[in-house]
Amino acid sequence: MKTPVAILISGRGSNMEKLVEAARAPDHPAEICGVLADRADAAGLDFARGQGLVAVAVERKGFADKAAHEAAISAVLADWGAGFIALAGFMRVLSPEFVQAWHGRIVNIHPSLLPRHKGLDTHARALAAGDTEHGCSVHWVTAELDGGDVIAQARVPVLSGDTVATLSARVLAEEHKLYPAALAQALRHHQTMTGD
Ligand code: GAR
Repeated sequence: MKTPVAILISGRGSNMEKLVEAARAPDHPAEICGVLADRADAAGLDFARGQGLVAVAVERKGFADKAAHEAAISAVLADWGAGFIALAGFMRVLSPEFVQAWHGRIVNIHPSLLPRHKGLDTHARALAAGDTEHGCSVHWVTAELDGGDVIAQARVPVLSGDTVATLSARVLAEEHKLYPAALAQALRHHQTMTGD
């Protein structure tokens, strides 16, 4: 049984690409029902459309406030019949109300070993802190930013001479492997809990 999953992005969408590719496998529990971006110029929208997926932009600037913007996003997700959300480089903090409505049905990928380095600029902060190890986490989304339970993590070494560019590339390669597997794990958990 496949669960309809909407992917939310803001830019490049390389993690989204990996989720789309993985979900094609008959035994992966996701069926990608659409890709939504908060920016019309998000490059990932073109990839998604090229795959024959429905892909739309719902930009913040078209709405009076955050609640109205999120209501529009919710309407799109309802139209798609989405039962689950995968955030993949979606760079907007969702409201507690939105997150609560999707409780247990929304996951995110974050470029650090949570609970270390929540928030932005994780690679620069790992370097500045002298971390010898860095990585990425897929976690349940809760009202606390990057604070929900971790589903899975992948670790990489920090090498001498690393820059943000070299370290982020090493982490991103792990993100691309981690997210499809962790989404499958989260969906199987969700399906077991709900019978969906
Ligand atoms: C990824 O590294 C993802 O972990 C990060 O943004 C990048 C998006 O790349 N997400 C966050 O920082 C969330 N706070 P992508 O668009 O190529 O998947």
